[in-house]
Amino acid sequence: MTHPGLDGRPPSASELTLSQIMDQHHTNLMGTVHGGRILNLIDSVAGVVAARHSDGPAVTAAIDETAFLRAVRVGDVVHVQARITWAGRSSMEVAVRCTADRWDRAVPPTVVATAHLVMVAVDEQGKPRPVPPLTLTTDDERHAFHLAEIRRKHRLALRDDLAAAAAA
Ligand SMILES: CC(C)(COP(=O)(O)OP(=O)(O)OC[C@H]1O[C@@H](n2cnc3c(N)ncnc32)[C@H](O)[C@@H]1OP(=O)(O)O)[C@@H](O)C(=O)NCCC(=O)NCCS
Repeated sequence: MTHPGLDGRPPSASELTLSQIMDQHHTNLMGTVHGGRILNLIDSVAGVVAARHSDGPAVTAAIDETAFLRAVRVGDVVHVQARITWAGRSSMEVAVRCTADRWDRAVPPTVVATAHLVMVAVDEQGKPRPVPPLTLTTDDERHAFHLAEIRRKHRLALRDDLAAAAAA
């Protein structure tokens, strides 16, 4: 499945947390933060993690159903944590967890959104290029990898179904 010429890397080598204070420019008509703004952060941070793992640019091939668990408000500090859970030939799954706390109070962060993304490493022509395999050292990492393989099977089946429907 993986490329034989590349050395493995652990998820910790590329993981990233980005924190951003939500302000009035990020709100929807209800005054809470737009889901699209959170998705944009999720996609950006996943892209950085995938680029770090693969030493170059990566594009988003799929974003799984994203769960928005709690409204994000102006004045919340959103923390977007992303790490690689699975790597194949040219694609990687990135798991993202967003938490939020308040800018002016030390309160425990609560989870506001979660997502899994498929990022594909690409060359200068935008064609898929090989990525290093993922080195798994903990039981948590092995479990996350196993769950990612299950999600991948479902995604590829869905992709085939959608392609067949589009061609019909
Ligand atoms: C992603 C992209 C580079 C894939 O190119 P492709 O010619 O279809 O290449 P492949 O079919 O060989 O797929 C490459 C890898 O991505 C995986 N992949 C592609 N689509 C996938 C999907 N929907 N779900 C899961 N994996 C997917 C393949 O399984 C393969 O994985 P592997 O190499 O690890 O085995 C191409 O479809 C593309 O450029 N898409 C647009 C990306 C983009 O612009 N994103 C921003 C959104 S606006």
